[in-house]
Amino acid sequence: MEISKTSSLNLTILALLLMTGLLYIFLNSNSSPISLFPTRIASSSCSEHRIPAESASHEAPPPDDLDLALRRASIANRTVIIAIMNKAYADPANSVDSDQTMLDLFLESFWLGEGTRKLLDHVLIVAMDRTAYMMCSFRRLNCYRLVTEGVDFAGEKLYMSEDFIKMMWSRTIFLTDVLRRGYSFIFTDTDVLWLRNPFGRLSSNETEDLQISTDYFNGDPWSEANSINTGFYFVRSNNLTVSLFEKWYSMKDNSTGKKEQDVLLDLMRSVTFRALGLKVRFLDTLYFSGFCSNSRDFEAVTTVHANCCRTIVAKILDLTAALRDWKRYKFSNRNGTAPYVWSKHVNCLKSWSP
Ligand SMILES: *[C@@H]1O[C@H](CO)[C@@H](O)[C@H](O)[C@H]1NC(C)=O
Ligand SMILES: *[C@@H]1O[C@H](CO)[C@@H](O)[C@H](O)[C@H]1NC(C)=O
Ligand SMILES: *[C@@H]1O[C@H](CO)[C@@H](O)[C@H](O)[C@H]1NC(C)=O
Ligand SMILES: *[C@@H]1O[C@H](CO)[C@@H](O)[C@H](O)[C@H]1NC(C)=O
Ligand SMILES: *[C@@H]1O[C@H](CO)[C@@H](O)[C@H](O)[C@H]1NC(C)=O
Repeated sequence: MEISKTSSLNLTILALLLMTGLLYIFLNSNSSPISLFPTRIASSSCSEHRIPAESASHEAPPPDDLDLALRRASIANRTVIIAIMNKAYADPANSVDSDQTMLDLFLESFWLGEGTRKLLDHVLIVAMDRTAYMMCSFRRLNCYRLVTEGVDFAGEKLYMSEDFIKMMWSRTIFLTDVLRRGYSFIFTDTDVLWLRNPFGRLSSNETEDLQISTDYFNGDPWSEANSINTGFYFVRSNNLTVSLFEKWYSMKDNSTGKKEQDVLLDLMRSVTFRALGLKVRFLDTLYFSGFCSNSRDFEAVTTVHANCCRTIVAKILDLTAALRDWKRYKFSNRNGTAPYVWSKHVNCLKSWSP
């Protein structure tokens, strides 16, 4: 008797506590029950982060849903991995000659890579259109929908087309926003295979503001003569990097016909890096490789970018081949006698001819 009395009293207290808790949550949720389910917030239309296509870096204070998305994906030290995606990279209809979409390949590399599986929790997929957002949510990833008014980012953007350039600029202003919120990040294009954990290969020296991949590495990590590639970089959030990104974006209207990568190159050449006091490290293609320069060592390769390639179809075919090369290496006995070589990137080579 005594025992059951106590336990029913406990139950009553528990129920009361629960009620109070729920009431508390409701009262603090701006009378919107949606905030009870933070993971679903991003799918509601009010979560769309609108950036006026033409306004410069002084946009209105952003809503909190980006903060939520960043918090969810963040590593303890406010570092996230950001991948930007549009429909063409996620929709099977765009990978006619292959079984896989770019997103599939990107995700499969995290599965097949060494020490990369746990990193997927820290990837924030930034969807540039509705389809990309839905494909992302379906895979239960961390997804965030970025809306730029007046621009349709759904189709494939041919290299250097007008929309391609607009899309590039739109992501620059978004990334500036992320830096301003105090998050450092690895930016990765979705046509990058992650074969090893890059944090082990990036410098952990906090004085290095930006570490950026190269198409061709000239052997000197401090040489501004390296050809940068904005498809993969690690940027620490601080005043200097916020200034750099603001400067970068401010060049938008002064750089017709140039994509943001070339503008960053201009900034670098016009000694803006040094003027801002930025410390920039250029990454060795031995680790952060691509189709322009293969990594010469399978024991060291960390990422493989489908650079020097024009179309999505070609990228998908040649990345599929690269992932096959990696599998052959990974599941072999690695006794050091058989040298591993990358397949030729035949489809990407062909993608440049008319
Ligand atoms: C966050 O942690 C990772 C490894 O855990 C480290 O490589 C990286 O430099 C850290 N980021 C910052 C901004 O310190
Ligand atoms: C980081 O880099 C600075 C400048 O090159 C150097 O003085 C410092 O010793 C480095 N810190 C570490 C922990 O290596
Ligand atoms: C960076 O910003 C912080 C606060 O926003 C400020 O206190 C600090 O002086 C700034 N540092 C530089 C080098 O501008
Ligand atoms: C834009 O270009 C013009 C001419 O090349 C140059 O004089 C001007 O300083 C540039 N503006 C910015 C913000 O770089
Ligand atoms: C090493 O691997 C190669 C190719 O996979 C194989 O031909 C060779 O017999 C192996 N050698 C040893 C000692 O396992």
